[in-house]
Amino acid sequence: MRIFTTLIPKEIGCLGDIKLDVVILIDILRASTTLIFALKSGARSVIPASTIEEAYELKRKFMHEKPLLCGERDGLIIPGFDLGNSPTEYTPENVCGRMLIYSSTNGSVLMKKAEMLAENVLLMSLINISAVINCVESINAESILLACAGYRGVFSLEDAYAAGLFIEKICKRHTDCIHDDGSLLSRILYEKYGENVESVFENAKHARYLGLDLGLADDLKIAGRIDSENIVPHLIDGEIRVMDRHAFR
Ligand code: MLT
Repeated sequence: MRIFTTLIPKEIGCLGDIKLDVVILIDILRASTTLIFALKSGARSVIPASTIEEAYELKRKFMHEKPLLCGERDGLIIPGFDLGNSPTEYTPENVCGRMLIYSSTNGSVLMKKAEMLAENVLLMSLINISAVINCVESINAESILLACAGYRGVFSLEDAYAAGLFIEKICKRHTDCIHDDGSLLSRILYEKYGENVESVFENAKHARYLGLDLGLADDLKIAGRIDSENIVPHLIDGEIRVMDRHAFR
């Protein structure tokens, strides 16, 4: 199994013509975590939008579905949108059966980019790492990209740490994993912190912003619960739904 890791989105453009079976997008604070909650609460599908304008265009396009506009800028709900970006907002009462149009500062932008690289894109957070590994195994993926979202183009500790934890776990099951340098560095990060997610968040700039500046400590608690969920969001044909092995191409 070949594992590549891009630590910032810009690196994706430098991958060349590597054939990838699956891209695993990592934005643990909070896009991946929040969309896992949305699907767990019964959202029918999520359509990512890079910009707020695109979100409104999609809302017009899917008017008949009465979609909800969701997402954030700088961690705060976008004025005029229905929901922000806290996992706790994505309750069954708010989202069950609904189509969501989702735009966030980094996560949704990377989703659109990742779609160009592979037919199958999975969303990973700390809360569903083992479930993602099970998916990767079930489709016999040989070539995987872990794409970290970072923050506004810059490296973010928490996403690279999650990539490292994924690599640590998958290499325990598969002894034939080949890493690139980004993967090795992520694994070294994991080795530094072990499963002390609190310490990762204490050091990570975006985690400090969410927790200290915006008072969203509960979101951090939720995002830090390793392997607490089984849902794997699968982005295919422009829509994110709960992963179904048979939908893989
Ligand atoms: C993003 O996609 O940029 C994040 O989810 C930001 C956030 O924490 O709201």
